[in-house]
Amino acid sequence: MSDWAAYGTLEFLDERGSLSGISAVLTPRETKLLNGASFRGTIKGLATNQLEEIGCQIILGNTYHLALRPTSELIDEMGGLHKFMNWPRALLTDSGGFQMVSLLHLADITEKGVTFQSPVDGKPMLLTPEESIQIQNRIGADIIMALDDVVKTTITGPRIEEAMYRTLRWMDRCIAAHQRPHEQNLFGIVQGGLDPVLSYAIGGLAGGESKDSFWRVVAQCTAALPEDKPRYVMGVGYPLDIVVCSALGADMYDCVYPTRTARFGTALVPEGVLKLKHKAMADDTRPIDPTCACMGVLKLKHKAMADDTRPIDPTCACMVCRNYTRAYIHCLVTKDAMGSQLLSYHNLYYMMKIVILAYWLIMSSRNHYDPEFGISCVNHQDI
Ligand code: GUN
Ligand code: ZN
Repeated sequence: MSDWAAYGTLEFLDERGSLSGISAVLTPRETKLLNGASFRGTIKGLATNQLEEIGCQIILGNTYHLALRPTSELIDEMGGLHKFMNWPRALLTDSGGFQMVSLLHLADITEKGVTFQSPVDGKPMLLTPEESIQIQNRIGADIIMALDDVVKTTITGPRIEEAMYRTLRWMDRCIAAHQRPHEQNLFGIVQGGLDPVLSYAIGGLAGGESKDSFWRVVAQCTAALPEDKPRYVMGVGYPLDIVVCSALGADMYDCVYPTRTARFGTALVPEGVLKLKHKAMADDTRPIDPTCACMGVLKLKHKAMADDTRPIDPTCACMVCRNYTRAYIHCLVTKDAMGSQLLSYHNLYYMMKIVILAYWLIMSSRNHYDPEFGISCVNHQDI
């Protein structure tokens, strides 16, 4: 972990491709928790005051989505995105290329930029590195991302090398185009697939590669990237990934998971769903899957929830767990927007706990690590 120990984040992408997200960043020096979300200027289903209540300090928006609706010109006219959506804390915008490539199958990447078919009128449109920065300058987020050439980690061959070099060339064009360098931090993105000889990918991950490859690349990246700068693993992740990547030195994340899974009726909880005492396990020869997406999940749609008077998670202090039963949420889920709103609230609260916990565990184990013995030990001054 760098001095910018940070965490969390989640981005929310629904089935139709509209997007909202949250990310969390923790800076130990300031003991300040940043965390986030995104758009059309909203984290799906949650008001900005609820995000503040949960402790979110940074939220993520997408250039591509915001440029289409409500448009960066309108946001600019409204005084920038902070003001427009009434969000006083930090904002980050992603550059747009990734969303186009992942959402629009017809996107075509050339040296000029990313060409795609407008979802509005079907006409070809080109997003260049310069335009991405211009749009992000108008939106006015605190952190803006360079346009990158995103390739799937599962492909191999010269295309990976091309993406890596092109991303570097585009980075230079983004720096040259940036009009507000004193107000907005421009982050570069590392592309390069899984090949450690070419480069280290910290963008482009979690795209179907094994956890092993994914975590190995994160470790290679954090070893090579400066420790005094925030290191952001884009599009990640599941609670387990966030804990593992934080231990490997990453600081920031964004992912659709907590709110998207909420919309499918799933709550994030500390205990796994795999009940090893269950008789079905007696002759199950498979290993426990350490790479599964969850630390634990609770499916509120399940009929067992219909008369369950407990909160989602009896150990959780969030507004939802303090006030509502599983039975009530079961009754709402998929029938009323309130069901996914309550689940989104709890899930984001859960992610905030995960990132804070990961941060403290890692910081304290680092303080107490004694290289001579190779074990964690107690610092006498702490007793
Ligand atoms: N979100 C998830 N992965 C990526 C990536 O590789 N690049 C960008 N720009 N955004 C992402
Ligand atoms: Zn809760």
